[in-house]
Amino acid sequence: MNELGKLEDLPQDYRDELARLNLVPLWPSLRAVLPPKVPTRKTRATCWPYATLRPLLMRAGELTPMEKAERRVLVMANPGHGLEKMQASAAMYLGMQLLLPGEWAPSHRHTPNAVRMIVEGEGAWTTVEGEKCPMSRGDLILTPTGLWHEHGHDGTEPVVWLDVLDLPIVYYTETSWVTEGQRQAVKTGSGNRAYARGGVVPSVGFARSHAEYPMLRYPWVDARAALVALGNDRPDLETVQVGYVNPETGGDAQNILGFYALMLRPGQVLKLPVRSPAMVFHQIEGRIAVDAEGQAFALGEADTCCIPGYTPVVLNNASAEQPAFVFIADETPLHKKLGVYEVRG
Ligand SMILES: [Fe+2]
Repeated sequence: MNELGKLEDLPQDYRDELARLNLVPLWPSLRAVLPPKVPTRKTRATCWPYATLRPLLMRAGELTPMEKAERRVLVMANPGHGLEKMQASAAMYLGMQLLLPGEWAPSHRHTPNAVRMIVEGEGAWTTVEGEKCPMSRGDLILTPTGLWHEHGHDGTEPVVWLDVLDLPIVYYTETSWVTEGQRQAVKTGSGNRAYARGGVVPSVGFARSHAEYPMLRYPWVDARAALVALGNDRPDLETVQVGYVNPETGGDAQNILGFYALMLRPGQVLKLPVRSPAMVFHQIEGRIAVDAEGQAFALGEADTCCIPGYTPVVLNNASAEQPAFVFIADETPLHKKLGVYEVRG
């Protein structure tokens, strides 16, 4: 590619006149916005070990009461984007949220989609559109765009969960907003029970609901059992992975971000395909080493890291006895909808 003209090559009076008329010459910036073959990525491979984050989160519990926080969260910000941007990648926001016994995070709804991956503690719940979802370690709870949600805690120990939102992309498109609400009336019934058996879905009066969000809670006990069964059934299978989907449509559970769980067999080294979306790994059980093009992180239980897109990633479960279980969030649905999704070998 030949070198293009620079801004400094142009006379100052010409540049001033362009700026005055809100005009910009393309050629000095063309290579930056259309780099050859590999996109420019601000997202940096970054790790947030839980052991270093947890004491600071607990201190936030002492420093800031709920009525002054509304949501008591330490945002896991990617330094590549600048911490003030509060984003883990181009489309993903990550936060570690603390709810203390007896506390209540008031009801609201907003345009960004959120999920909660429960990290520690028992007794907390999230009510989504009247459906009360208990929160236990490893459970995934959806609070999709526009749905009322609130969090409460009837237990005795602090509860912590990982929030994954598509806030950066929704904010970027200038569509991010919230409405406050009253405490929700809890209704009976729960999607995760109605859809708990694979291959069997509610078909009431011969009709399917085709609901957008029929299932709001994906218990870890079920996802884990699915991974173990898949691993046992298919010893030949290299990648033992499940995806969180809408059981009515078979499509992604949410519109913008994708969610998966992966099991690494004892001693397994797994090379992931190089793909366009950025990925977040959150360790649920066991330990793994993550190597992202030379940058290495050791993920123990509750540790979280983010890896930019277009990056070769190798995961290694060094344990000879124990499988390792990882929750993954990524930007696949967004990339597919935009038509930019790519797998490079
Ligand atoms: Fe929210």
